[in-house]
Amino acid sequence: MNTYDLIIKKRGGSELTKEEYSYLIKNYVAGSIPDYQMSAFLMAVYFRGMSEKETLYLTEEMIKSGDTLDLSNVQGIKADKHSTGGVGDKTSLALCPMLASVGIKVAKMSGRGLGHTGGTIDKLESFPGLTTSIDGERFIKQANEVGFVIAGQTAHLVPADKKLYALRDVTGTVDILPLIVSSIMSKKLASGADIIVLDVKTGSGAFMKKEEDSFELARQMVSLGKIAGKKTVAVVSDMDEPLGFAVGNALEVKEAIAVLKGENEGKLRELCLILGACVLTEAGMAESEAEAIKMLKNCIEDGSALRKLADFVEAQGGDRRAVFDTSLLPSAPFTFELPSPKAGYIKTIQADGIGRACIALGGGREIKDSPIDLSVGVVLHKKTGDYVNCNESLLTIHARDKESAKEAEKILLESYAFSDTAPEKRAFIRGIVR
Ligand code: URA
Repeated sequence: MNTYDLIIKKRGGSELTKEEYSYLIKNYVAGSIPDYQMSAFLMAVYFRGMSEKETLYLTEEMIKSGDTLDLSNVQGIKADKHSTGGVGDKTSLALCPMLASVGIKVAKMSGRGLGHTGGTIDKLESFPGLTTSIDGERFIKQANEVGFVIAGQTAHLVPADKKLYALRDVTGTVDILPLIVSSIMSKKLASGADIIVLDVKTGSGAFMKKEEDSFELARQMVSLGKIAGKKTVAVVSDMDEPLGFAVGNALEVKEAIAVLKGENEGKLRELCLILGACVLTEAGMAESEAEAIKMLKNCIEDGSALRKLADFVEAQGGDRRAVFDTSLLPSAPFTFELPSPKAGYIKTIQADGIGRACIALGGGREIKDSPIDLSVGVVLHKKTGDYVNCNESLLTIHARDKESAKEAEKILLESYAFSDTAPEKRAFIRGIVR
């Protein structure tokens, strides 16, 4: 077997065997297949696709490339959640404490932001002192004692994905459905949870722009989860505009806290309730979605979800007071309003544009591991379908200086489209795949 022949085979549209995927992954991780050959193979996948059988083989080989997490010492039902990536997506920050406070254990590995999308690990670091470098023993102990722990992805868990994802990111091969399926599901299946809930985004800020592709992505991930014996469910939701109102690390933490305080009843809370209800019904803790949603709303109303977040922050070395007093979180020295250039209805807000503006403010990364400013970002005042007067503020820019705000302003204005008539309303939750 040799890599050249496998590239030609895929380029010609043929199915590769399990042994061939094993050869590709083992040798790529070992360094004996160079990046240029793997890039050529990935691009052949872009044009020729992969059968579901091939996606399964690739996922299995990726899992085998490293360690798997053993959660057998965590008592109770363990759930994991993964988002396919979006802008303003702070769902984990609100959902995990809600689940933990109703008795589901969440022992989760998360990533940092890359490109126009944010990452949970960066957001969590907004809590002064909080660490996400949690070793194995402490990880299990915290899952048992607090009910919820989030650590940064270790290098030992699915190293094939680490290497492949970095290569995909710079070779135009991220938005390829079978590669997203195997990337996400290899990490989830290696993480040892009983229930996997997938938050699949669709629209301009998502990797899958078309709704039918997002549903196909959801279907294939759910099918793989089930083959591996895990209870798996996916919720497909809108990412044509940013989720909620805040985009930027500390600003998003504040918005998630507002949900847990019962002060925010918007789309972010709606998504958390649906995702949480999927977990509770799969876990057999609720008979129906309505019953599950009631349980989750109760833990917001009685303050237990907010206290759970504070317990989590403290267990990970952070300042729990910041959960109750968000003025202790990083805040940018300057704020600027962005006036609407015209009167009319907001037709679209390109989520990826808002994400890119946050990078221009210093709140996101162009290059892996570059430092970021946790305090900067934007808070939207108007969403798609809202009417805005000329010069009325569309959003507030939180910036470290005037120059970065100016640069962001240009990208932000390009992200808006207006219309004289109200745009057609589209459902936020597009469907659930079980
Ligand atoms: N998120 C992942 O973890 N992998 C992908 O390929 C895309 C989004």
